Amino acid sequence: MSRPMLLNAFDMMVPVHQSPGLWRHPDSGASRFDTLGYWTSLARTLEEGGFASLFLADIPGVYDVYGGGTEATARGGVQYPLLDPLVLVPAMAAVTERLGFGVTASVTYEAPYLLARTLATLDHVTAGRVAWNVVTSYQDSAARNLGLERQLPHDERYDRADEYLEVMYKLLEGSFEPGAVRADAEAGVFVDPDRVHPVEHRGTYFSVPGQALAHPGPQGTPFLFQAGASKRGQQFALDHAEAIFFIGNTPRLVRGWTDGVRAGLAERGRAEDAVKVFTMATVVVADTDEAARDRLDGYRRHVDIEGALALFGGWTGVDLAGADPEAPLEYVATDANQSALASFTSLSPDRRWTVRDLAEFVAIGGRGPVIAGSPATVADELERWQEEAGVDGFNVSAAVRPADLERFGALVSPELRRRGVLAEPGTGTLREALGGGGPRLAPDHRGAAFRRAVGAGASAAS
Ligand SMILES: Cc1cc2nc3c(=O)[nH]c(=O)nc-3n(C[C@H](O)[C@H](O)[C@H](O)COP(=O)(O)O)c2cc1C
Repeated sequence: MSRPMLLNAFDMMVPVHQSPGLWRHPDSGASRFDTLGYWTSLARTLEEGGFASLFLADIPGVYDVYGGGTEATARGGVQYPLLDPLVLVPAMAAVTERLGFGVTASVTYEAPYLLARTLATLDHVTAGRVAWNVVTSYQDSAARNLGLERQLPHDERYDRADEYLEVMYKLLEGSFEPGAVRADAEAGVFVDPDRVHPVEHRGTYFSVPGQALAHPGPQGTPFLFQAGASKRGQQFALDHAEAIFFIGNTPRLVRGWTDGVRAGLAERGRAEDAVKVFTMATVVVADTDEAARDRLDGYRRHVDIEGALALFGGWTGVDLAGADPEAPLEYVATDANQSALASFTSLSPDRRWTVRDLAEFVAIGGRGPVIAGSPATVADELERWQEEAGVDGFNVSAAVRPADLERFGALVSPELRRRGVLAEPGTGTLREALGGGGPRLAPDHRGAAFRRAVGAGASAAS
């Protein structure tokens, strides 16, 4: 075994996340996605199953590329309607002790000053169990509803995101000195005014002169997830992320990205294991291989091909409505998610994908692999993927939600534990569980330079 296997559950507060149509399966509870009980029950299940975190995807727009509208998206419940993941985290934290929560927030559309407060709040009330999935977003529909005519160009979104992160480090690491919050009744001092500092940020995209609203939580900057996969996106991830996610349909494809991460870290002087790498997998498990195959066959009867194309159109900005099902897919550069299309075209030298192949593949488990089998077969496959793709763990997705995650916890987790390969979180912060170091950003992380020592006055990097 190479290294202990880390598990995140990969989910979203929607009826359909990665497997369009499967909400119609008789075992699906997805129609209750808008109830508190759905999420608190799932959180408990994941904690019992040894998951390090529940990773919640989020997008700020409705998928409207396929057929030039939102019909297939609405009919299929394709990542729509969509609730706010940040709101539900405290309720899930209240019923768990170790499970972390990865929340997605867009640096293109959220104001950094307020987001720093929201993330600090979550870090306080979860006792340091929150991670932030930093995304630049990829939908024109989001841009239009959030004050722009169209999206900023793809690479510029990342340039802007670099400055955004600098503002966040200043607010979360450099505004409050350690010990600034004294709550000293005798002295009559709640916050020591000499120990809080304006961040004085004036840059190309942001101007934030004042001091942070909220004092930082146990992690300071929450643990940072990122999933940039394009050239510019990967640079951004290497500069900031502590965990990187990929989605690829073969271990070889993911390996290319993973090797790029390890090499890029070395170039930046960051430790080779400074970043944990995850890849997505949808797992269908049953007592025997045959039962799992039957289960997966049953799933295929419920897939929603139009929904799959609505999802793909949303990711890539490419509208396949009316395309010849037998036509081969071609790569085109768009301002949306570039790697999603590349993984079925330019990055897939061994296979020529048609529109039909793509729709059928995406309909169960999105762009990642579906691993179906007995607990032993699933564990073998996860170990093989981990080895061949060079990843630290998996973002496990459910086709039938939440049943497949519950089945994973009941059947696969015990098998991984029996093999001694599961990396289970302890009781500390999420950074300690996933990163293996202390609760704060590692000293070689660029955000650590913004940290303010006691009585230090101006921070090192301001
Ligand atoms: C596992 C995983 C989860 C992701 N979750 C989100 C998400 O919740 N919201 C979002 O806007 N983008 C999400 N993305 C997309 C990435 O942020 C990124 O845009 C994408 O991987 C394409 O990379 P690029 O921006 O470098 O082209 C996710 C990607 C992966 C691989």
